[in-house]
Amino acid sequence: MESISNQEVIAMPRIGDLAPSFNAVTTQGPISFPEDYTGSWTILFSHPADFTPVCTSEFMTFASMDEQFSNANCKLVGLSVDGLYSHIAWLRTIKEKIEYRGMKNVEVKFPLIEDITMEVARKYGMIQPGESNTKAVRAVFFVDPKGVIRAIIYYPLSLGRNFDELYRALIAMQTADAFSVATPADWRPGDEVIVPPAGSCGAAKERMESKEEMHCYDWFFCTKKLSKEEVLKKVLKSF
Ligand code: BEZ
Repeated sequence: MESISNQEVIAMPRIGDLAPSFNAVTTQGPISFPEDYTGSWTILFSHPADFTPVCTSEFMTFASMDEQFSNANCKLVGLSVDGLYSHIAWLRTIKEKIEYRGMKNVEVKFPLIEDITMEVARKYGMIQPGESNTKAVRAVFFVDPKGVIRAIIYYPLSLGRNFDELYRALIAMQTADAFSVATPADWRPGDEVIVPPAGSCGAAKERMESKEEMHCYDWFFCTKKLSKEEVLKKVLKSF
């Protein structure tokens, strides 16, 4: 439970919960979340404030990867507690003026939610008073095609996110779903996967009956090969 400044107590969404519903105004028009996104993965993420440097570097990076996420059936939705006209002015400045690490003329095409009442930010536990009462922390919610929250990451105000990791996590979760496997530390497509997922019922029986070639480090830790091509063919729209 998160306690906010006026002592109101809000339950923070957790992994496995349905994503809390809300209607919002965005830079791309009104949205109803998560209903409008049924059938695709969504990354709902917050940033502390428009016209700030870390956030600018993040938006330019995310916008540059928009097509890559889209090809993995994932839509991006941003949020901060700024108003719509601030969002529009900031995104225009990014497009017209900022050149950063080889990225320029970057157009942010995904919706950016205005949340001046902090209603959505509070619902998602993005206001963390120990860090800031007036700004959202850098939260990342991965929501699956059925509207279920599958992963949550929070970063403090000063720390820019690693967008390769967000993409890696998305592909890993999609791979786990598609092939009924788990993915080990630092997994990337082409690396061995864990079978069957740790702790699942019938795991030992399945393992013994399986004709698949596996490598067992011990009775509780078995892996198998899963080619990069098989993974990407399954999870990407075009490969
Ligand atoms: C930034 O994006 O640069 C930033 C925003 C709020 C607090 C600190 C840094």
